Amino acid sequence: MLRAVPGSNDIFPQAKEYPFREPVFRHIVRTAEEVLRNAGAQMIHTPIFEQLEVFQRGVGLTSDIVVKKEMFVLEDRGGRLLALRPEPTAAVVRAYNEHGMKVWPQPVRLFTWGPIFRGERPQKGRYRQFHQVDYEALGLADPLLDAEAIALMVRIYRTLGLRNLEVRLGSVGDPEDRARYNQYLRGLLMPHADRLSEESRARLEANPMRILDSKSEQDQAVLAELGVRPMLEFLGEEAQAFHEQVCRYLERLGVAYTVDPSLVRGLDYYVRTAWEVHHMAIGAKSALGGGGRYDGLSEMLGGPRVPGVGFGIGIERVAIALEQEGVVVPPDPSPTLYLAPLDEPAKIEALALAEQLRPRVYVEIGYTPKSPRKALEDALRKGAQYVGFLGEAERARGVITLKHLQSGEQREVEPFQLHSLFEE
Ligand code: HAM
Repeated sequence: MLRAVPGSNDIFPQAKEYPFREPVFRHIVRTAEEVLRNAGAQMIHTPIFEQLEVFQRGVGLTSDIVVKKEMFVLEDRGGRLLALRPEPTAAVVRAYNEHGMKVWPQPVRLFTWGPIFRGERPQKGRYRQFHQVDYEALGLADPLLDAEAIALMVRIYRTLGLRNLEVRLGSVGDPEDRARYNQYLRGLLMPHADRLSEESRARLEANPMRILDSKSEQDQAVLAELGVRPMLEFLGEEAQAFHEQVCRYLERLGVAYTVDPSLVRGLDYYVRTAWEVHHMAIGAKSALGGGGRYDGLSEMLGGPRVPGVGFGIGIERVAIALEQEGVVVPPDPSPTLYLAPLDEPAKIEALALAEQLRPRVYVEIGYTPKSPRKALEDALRKGAQYVGFLGEAERARGVITLKHLQSGEQREVEPFQLHSLFEE
């Protein structure tokens, strides 16, 4: 028997694990959609694959996604290399440029949601196909948009009922600041290179800043011993002022945050503002989402200069957090009426009646004729309020035997009476 690929999951109502229960999943998407639409963002859906280059250039050659070969790459028949999207931001910026959105009133604020693919080692909270809600505000380099994005993100979590959150805000500076910081890190770490993990040694040249985010205890020990100064101390004047403005705006908005002076994000395109939202109860995979500013991304994709800021929310991670906090997402409603054909000719009568009632009433039918006792069992399993029997006797008298499942009360009704019965 064939099975789903490890790290990919089926999402359906009866799924055992909370993140894969379809009503939970849908509730998260709908809540986010409502918050974002109310804030004036418009929905966009980009393809789930793009030319490989979009992401290679976008997420950057030193990001985990590229370095650890986490992209799912395919070759089309013309020999072109495509990739399943490992994140949506580069694709949204590609679409912005392709459709000339630069001449629209700025900023252009877009959101999307859907599957994301990263060839990571699967574990709880980390999958190879997962899902994000993504928001991007493009075309304006104003810290107001950074503050708004953070506030919107927090509002989505709060509306869902999450409490145990921490917003960690940092700044990765402008490219010149980062170059200076990387220079500093290289100077500091080079003499201790032999004590670093292989992965970090490889990073010393290209992007030593990512070493700070290393999961290796050995690396962290070296960093602690050397007393590494954080990125935030290396901000140039403009990036510093920008960061302070974001902080002031957040305070005015009443959004609680902590400054994380050494916040590092996994994608290379960030400049200035960068943040993550963590949930305090879900352990190591605690990032419920992350975001930041990426003013140079459009140019990396061969487009004009388009400043931008946005965030991605991990839908499965949010579901895990909801479960941890005991937030109950209501299951799908059960049918009001279950129509059970008791013989062959009643099948189409049941369907015809269901079709009449369905625009206003949730009606299911038993597709196969069976005994009243079996039909009753089915109706109970479906959680129906009423079961309606249609058999030979009912047909002869032009009625339906209607039973209220909770009270057991049973009576005969004419089909037209059903409308008024259920529409009260
Ligand atoms: P990211 O931090 O790579 O950012 O991903 C955002 C969120 O997706 C993470 O915080 C986490 O909740 C979830 N996530 C990431 N990887 C996995 C995984 N393997 N399994 C399950 N969930 C995962 C971005 O993707 C940026 N595009 C965000 C952004 C938008 N920045 C600016 N605009």
